[in-house]
Amino acid sequence: KNKVIIDADPGIDDSLALLVALNSPELDIIGITVVAGNVPTDIGVKNVLKVLHEAGRLDIPVFSGATRPLKHAYTSAQDTHGMDGLGESGIPNAPEKPLSELDAQSGYVKLLTENDDVWFMALGPLTNVAVSLQQQPNIWQHVSRLIVMGGAYKSHGNTSPVAEYNFWVDPDAADYVFQNAPLCIELVPLDVTRKIVLTPNILALMQNLDPQKTIFVAKIIRFYFQFHWQQEHVLGAVINDPLVIVYALHPELSRGIHKYVTVVTSGIALGQSIVDTANFWNKAANATILQEIDAKQAMTYIVSGLIGLDVS
Ligand code: BDR
Ligand code: CA
Repeated sequence: KNKVIIDADPGIDDSLALLVALNSPELDIIGITVVAGNVPTDIGVKNVLKVLHEAGRLDIPVFSGATRPLKHAYTSAQDTHGMDGLGESGIPNAPEKPLSELDAQSGYVKLLTENDDVWFMALGPLTNVAVSLQQQPNIWQHVSRLIVMGGAYKSHGNTSPVAEYNFWVDPDAADYVFQNAPLCIELVPLDVTRKIVLTPNILALMQNLDPQKTIFVAKIIRFYFQFHWQQEHVLGAVINDPLVIVYALHPELSRGIHKYVTVVTSGIALGQSIVDTANFWNKAANATILQEIDAKQAMTYIVSGLIGLDVS
């Protein structure tokens, strides 16, 4: 089994990603950390616990992380995900489970000194990751893959014409991670995640296949359907974060380029990810940026992950 740490800001699509990961027999989730993003950190922690309760996995340690970006003011995405971060679905809190007494930073130290060859998946702003690289760079030698959802390469942004939300919220953290991570980042940008659309049709199919397991998903996705319809007239919801899990397990579904990436930290293009495709800056590549994805197959894996079906 591959040992995994997931850093998230749940968030509707983060919650779906967690469910897919929890239902993947190939993954052993050794810890989940929470960062300020879609919702403030305390709400994100509650949501992780709700998802773990839903999956019957409250044994997995959860650590609370950064409550604001490194330098910029914090802006949540509660317009997109609902005030509760789960589409105002009224899902009750998980039964009391004491949060780990360690914060995310101490959690990383513990988990990464006790384990080797860990896959780290970042589904929110990169604040927790940047702070860890600043304060405890040595523990990162125990991470073998750093997979990040964020940025936009050729595609337009979702928070400004050029910026994707996770990088826009904490551009300083994002750029710090690109410049300082001791391993090549596997970047899952909007260009590929935009192709992953959960439609009402697919939801109906899931309800047919497993009505019980689809209740939670149906409750939280409603708000996302409405948001996407009102904002973009998309017939369904773009679910970005679950693609990180599917890509991690099935890299053969995608094609990427190996290039140098930097993130703009001020001005009109704040949060934009710049990919130096033509090597103008002569810098060593620090990322593999996904460009193409077999969206149909990826969606099949996501659906089966959400309801715990084995399609391998
Ligand atoms: C990213 O921003 C958040 O709203 C989603 O959870 C995803 O991680 C997409 O831009
Ligand atoms: Ca997210």
